[in-house]
Amino acid sequence: MLTLCLSLLLLVTNNSNHSQTTNKKEEIMKFELIQLPYAANALEPVISKATIEFHHGKHLQAYVNNLNNLIPGTKFENAPLEQIVAESDGAIFNNAGQILNHNLYFTQFSPKGGGKPSGKLAEAIDKTWGSFENFQKEFNTAGAGLFGSGWVWLAKDKDGKLSITKEANGSNPVAKGLTPILGFDVWEHAYYLDYQNRRPDHLTALWKIIDWDAVGKRY
Ligand SMILES: [Fe+2]
Repeated sequence: MLTLCLSLLLLVTNNSNHSQTTNKKEEIMKFELIQLPYAANALEPVISKATIEFHHGKHLQAYVNNLNNLIPGTKFENAPLEQIVAESDGAIFNNAGQILNHNLYFTQFSPKGGGKPSGKLAEAIDKTWGSFENFQKEFNTAGAGLFGSGWVWLAKDKDGKLSITKEANGSNPVAKGLTPILGFDVWEHAYYLDYQNRRPDHLTALWKIIDWDAVGKRY
């Protein structure tokens, strides 16, 4: 009965990125590769099928495998991703951050995307940057100017105030106590097959596939 209660508690307190292994006595939670909400070729020509297959199937899978190898026996064994990113460092932070980053990244696109945000997110963007176009310009500039590998994010603080943050390598706004809303991956693996060194062109094209319904729900 105690084991059953413990299992239920673990299931309830962990987010949907976890699943339970069935071959161990202990209730070890494991992270899984998220399913894409579209076909691998659905975002072409903005992101090619080959880039999606490498980015999701190889790079993100590697981060998932790494984290699952790193966390058993640590205090993060059954923690949600956001908590791990907020509290860890070193290899655990890098791999957990990249899983969180990519889970948000891949679920913010749609082949029917593009256009502009609406509702409260649109109002907050207008209030902060004057217009959606000004926000886009600042966001693109931040992403193009980020040295090396990393991410540019639209994030909100606890009061709903928006900001653009640059995150080095695998970091995420949750490490600064912020909530990530929209993120562009500026690691070369995100665009090199399709755009080679033309990172700004890739960033400009990404706006055509943003699923503003999905992104708006994060605000
Ligand atoms: Fe990536």
